[in-house]
Amino acid sequence: MLYDFRSFINPGYYAFGKGSFNHLNELIDRKKSDAQSWSVFMIDDYFKGKELERRLPKSESDLVIWIETTNEPITSLVNRYRDEIIEFNPTLPSVIVGIGGGTTMDYAKATGLMVTNPGDSADYQGLDLIKNEGVYTICIPTVSGTGAEVSMTAVLSGPERKLGIKCDYTIPNEVVFDPELLSTVPAEQRFFTGMDCYIHNVESTTGTWINSLGSAFAEKSSELCLEVFLNTNTPRIESDEKMMVASLLGGNSVTYAQVGVCHALSYGLSHVLGVHHGVGNCVVFNQLEEYYPEGYKQFKLMQEKQQVELPTGLVAGCTEEQLNQMVETSWALEHMWNNAFGADWQNHISKEKIKELLLKM
Ligand SMILES: [Fe+2]
Repeated sequence: MLYDFRSFINPGYYAFGKGSFNHLNELIDRKKSDAQSWSVFMIDDYFKGKELERRLPKSESDLVIWIETTNEPITSLVNRYRDEIIEFNPTLPSVIVGIGGGTTMDYAKATGLMVTNPGDSADYQGLDLIKNEGVYTICIPTVSGTGAEVSMTAVLSGPERKLGIKCDYTIPNEVVFDPELLSTVPAEQRFFTGMDCYIHNVESTTGTWINSLGSAFAEKSSELCLEVFLNTNTPRIESDEKMMVASLLGGNSVTYAQVGVCHALSYGLSHVLGVHHGVGNCVVFNQLEEYYPEGYKQFKLMQEKQQVELPTGLVAGCTEEQLNQMVETSWALEHMWNNAFGADWQNHISKEKIKELLLKM
């Protein structure tokens, strides 16, 4: 069997707890070999002019790249960031720090690899295509749920497809979990990103690739998601800390298992319409009661408690060509379908069914 044996990598270091961000300079200095050593900060442009910008431990020789996060990460921008880094200073930086949500962290992970691997990042979309280890990467989540901080995939949309650069080198070398950094995330975004995590757990535990290790991660992660989104009396800092743990556990549950129907459809949706991953997942999951009845029930409870409205009519205005592109993007994600239904997945889902589901969104 193709998928039976799996051995996976995790980040090398975790720093966890309130105030961890204050130690970032120590973590960076540890990687600097001489006076010429320099760093790159890739940071969500939401923080431009905010307190976090002033707290960045940067010197004159460091480069700050502001990441615009309205759209999902794309290969052409990874190439551009790589060129910007090489133009700024042709010697390799000692560290790339990615500060933000899944989009920013995936840009940091992918850019760190492309500095040491020639060509177009679109050529590396897939499994184990990267040849050389990238620059040492530190990821610092400022919104939790995607699991990007512990994932060996940098998910990218390219000219041809939405597919991650996945290999051992994609894993961040170090992660700083500081719940204080989550304090300004708006309620809606917090919910959408948190539900990405919850859906990771549902898809991994109900899939055919699941094992005890993946289950253990997912079960605790789901428990924390439910606490965060159903128990609204918990002080924000406490629930943010829990959500950080849920995200890291949920990320590991899909590493040791796989996502399923929701992510396959959501990739199609966001590849064509640019819908943000968390939002796309919620819109899709809202139509998947037949595949995930238990998860759906809890999802609706959390949505109700958080009073979040889901966007509707996303696919209504699409051309036939766009719709077909969504179907093809989803259909190509064989590993997700295989996890959801098993090796004979084509007996359980058809392109017509995918189209029918998409048209409800
Ligand atoms: Fe996800």
